Amino acid sequence: MPHPKNNSLRPYNTFGMDVQARKVIRIASIEDLKSVLQIHRPQEIRIIGGGSNILMTKNIDAVCLINQFSGKSIVRRDDEHVWVRFASGENWHEAVQWCVNQGFGGLENLSLIPGTCGAAPIQNIGAYGVELKDVFDSLEAFHLESQQIEIMHADDCHFAYRDSIFKQHAKGKYFILSITLRLSLHPNLNTSYGGIQSALDNQGILNPNIRDVAEVVIAIRKSKLPDPLIIGNAGSFFKNPVIPESLFQSLQKTHPHIPSFPAKDGVKIPAAWLIEQCGWKGFRDGDAGVHPHQALVLVNYHQASGMDIFALSEKIITSVQQAFNISLEREVNIW
Ligand code: EPU
Repeated sequence: MPHPKNNSLRPYNTFGMDVQARKVIRIASIEDLKSVLQIHRPQEIRIIGGGSNILMTKNIDAVCLINQFSGKSIVRRDDEHVWVRFASGENWHEAVQWCVNQGFGGLENLSLIPGTCGAAPIQNIGAYGVELKDVFDSLEAFHLESQQIEIMHADDCHFAYRDSIFKQHAKGKYFILSITLRLSLHPNLNTSYGGIQSALDNQGILNPNIRDVAEVVIAIRKSKLPDPLIIGNAGSFFKNPVIPESLFQSLQKTHPHIPSFPAKDGVKIPAAWLIEQCGWKGFRDGDAGVHPHQALVLVNYHQASGMDIFALSEKIITSVQQAFNISLEREVNIW
């Protein structure tokens, strides 16, 4: 069935894919949600926050809800911490900047991550040695089937590396309404990861504050990651794989410089390194490509289709599998 033109999802996904939804509805209140559910079943619904972790490969035969819940409030404070609640449609980076301006510590390493506050717990966003779970207190979620609001704490969410119940058995079942974060009034800075300390040293900043760290993180991200407003992308396309210690030791014999990080059940290898070793960094076929500064990021230079990007990701997975016997897993959601 042809879809009417005004249901394009192009403005709602950072890959810039011009696909059609059955319907696009902006949601800013629980009343809005309830009125959608009077007409549509939960199974017909998809929720879009910032659209920064989705690859749309075809027209979406679903009612797409655009999250426009807004607002923030301080819900509690003691001598050490402050608890701040953000509505789920608030832009993540603006929320981080607001906290930095207030002197509330804990989010500075998570500066400039695209997307909304409501999407942050779904994949437990992380960067530069910090994950959402480190500051997470709780969230409010609207259960689409029962239409009840549930409060979930960190334990309920089963956070893991780029993972939570919202990517597992709770997938598609809830509309997250707000998140509450516990931030520090006497922040301990985390400057150990990814060149943050050396950037501070280079600038002669001996006693950094949270704003200094935020600014360094913003500069590092801008130097490596393409701006989705200019080149379509969804950040890291794959997860960094965790491999068994035995495989790591045998790879070290053939690749003595293989980078690695300790992980819970083995050794974590940067997927970007594996992809670069296979010769993909800077690759371009038509308008689908691998970013020249970060091999983990697939890009749409202009008119690639979702299937073009998906096909490229398949080729990358196959070549990494053949070269290293490692299965890359996609981090972005494929729609
Ligand atoms: N590397 C390469 N080639 C590259 C890029 C990186 O070989 O083109 C190797 C280097 O050895 C480097 C290592 O990979 O030291 C790690 O690189 P980087 O610090 O850029 O981080 P990453 O592991 O590639 C992860 C997250 C990013 C996050 C950065 C910084 C995942 C899937 N990705 O990338 O998250 O910003 O760390 O903390 O865990 C995202 O999720 O969308 C995202 C951008």
